[in-house]
Parts: sequence; C-alpha cells; structure tokens
Amino acid sequence: MKNYSFVCKVTDLPPGSMRTYVVNGKRIALANVDGSYFAVDDACTHEQCSLGSEGALDGNVIICGCHGAQYDVTTGHVMAPPAPRDVQSYETKADNGSVYIKA
Ligand code: FES
Repeated sequence: MKNYSFVCKVTDLPPGSMRTYVVNGKRIALANVDGSYFAVDDACTHEQCSLGSEGALDGNVIICGCHGAQYDVTTGHVMAPPAPRDVQSYETKADNGSVYIKA
C-alpha cells in the first residue's frame, strides 16, 4: 500500500466514534461512520480547535466543540458556520484489521 500510513487498529475506533491521531506529523481526525473510515484535518478552520478530540460526530457530520461549526466528514466540506473554509480530507483504507490513510 504505497503512500498509506498506519493509523490504528479497526478495534480502536468503533462505529460512531472519532479520535485524533498524529500521522506523519499531521494531526488527523479519523471517524468511523457505520464501518467506513473517513479522515480530515483535525484543526477547525475557525479557531483551530481539535475536531477529533473536542468535537462530536453525528452520523457523517462533525460538530466542532468550540463554536458549533459543522463539517461533512466524508468530504471535509463546511456545512455550518462559523468555519470559513473546508478542512482537507484524506483517503483511507481498512486492511487486515488496520486502518491506513494517505497523508
Ligand atoms: S474553533 Fe471550531 S467553530 Fe470555532
């Protein structure tokens, strides 16, 4: 799996949960939405709060814990203010019990 980096075991992140991981020096919020894994930059584009650690996951929507901005975790697109910009999203892969991202 060229260019993919290990993030965690699939058992570390049950469906409906989200956590912050550091991969290749980047802070990434990784979410499990019904068994599919999605990764976006961890820093909210409003005031850089950690989405993975301080935010909430509701279906495929991340809600920032600081001021309530919302993002679609499957694309990184902003769905509700005050976030001024999308967060970058990363490709993920689950293989042999482990989750990897291209970052
Ligand atoms: S830091 Fe995320 S909404 Fe303000």
